[in-house]
Amino acid sequence: MFRSERYLQPWRLTGPTPPRRIETQRLVLRCWEPTDARLFEPALRVSREHIGAWIPPVWDEPSELDDIARRLGQFRAEFHAGIGFVYAMLDATETEVLGEAGLMPRIGPGALEIGYWVHVDHVGLGLATEATRALTLAGLALNEVDRIEIHCDAANIPSAAVPRRLGYRLTRPPDLDRSHPDSHGPGDLLVFALEAIGDLADGPAGEANA
Ligand SMILES: CC(C)(COP(=O)(O)OP(=O)(O)OC[C@H]1O[C@@H](n2cnc3c(N)ncnc32)[C@H](O)[C@@H]1OP(=O)(O)O)[C@@H](O)C(=O)NCCC(=O)NCCS
Repeated sequence: MFRSERYLQPWRLTGPTPPRRIETQRLVLRCWEPTDARLFEPALRVSREHIGAWIPPVWDEPSELDDIARRLGQFRAEFHAGIGFVYAMLDATETEVLGEAGLMPRIGPGALEIGYWVHVDHVGLGLATEATRALTLAGLALNEVDRIEIHCDAANIPSAAVPRRLGYRLTRPPDLDRSHPDSHGPGDLLVFALEAIGDLADGPAGEANA
């Protein structure tokens, strides 16, 4: 549901891309594989309403296994092509989808946007923060990247808490086309940014990852 190729200002990394697999204290973040469809389907089925409130494109996501597999194959192809880096957020045994997070080159050269959703039964445990911390480190480690942003609706309190907790600063939102289907909900947009790894705060208690 994080469609990098048709958003604001897409750009393509020409040098090294983020790692295909990142392990954190509780999570495995890795590039989707079509064979993950069986794990993805139940997670999306129970979470669709919870996610759709803030990421409207989720309503258009397929629900049949074959279609989901094709969709995950697209994510993998985009990952390889350097135009979008969507990660499965899995438990340590890689048997359950806990969410999804992405590093998207769609806000102009030099910057990546992080997006995320967490399985409705696993919210409030710090998983989005843990994944976002790891992806921030992975993004800022790239030569071509000097800024990570997180965009969210001002009314999305749980989402805005993630960048705040990690030391991101609130910046002025760009002049966005809010009618775009990938827009982040109907309310005011908050844009958080972080440029230096040194500014990144610790995540959930005890986390020391990536
Ligand atoms: C936003 C979302 C990813 C957060 O995932 P999560 O794993 O629960 O996030 P974390 O546990 O890492 O952090 C959530 C923070 O919000 C707080 N929080 C959780 N639910 C809350 C609520 N209903 N009201 C206020 N704060 C809330 C948590 O306490 C934590 O803040 P804290 O550090 O002050 O304790 C998840 O709720 C989700 O998938 N939402 C739907 C999709 C979405 O909105 N994606 C983001 C689009 S920009």
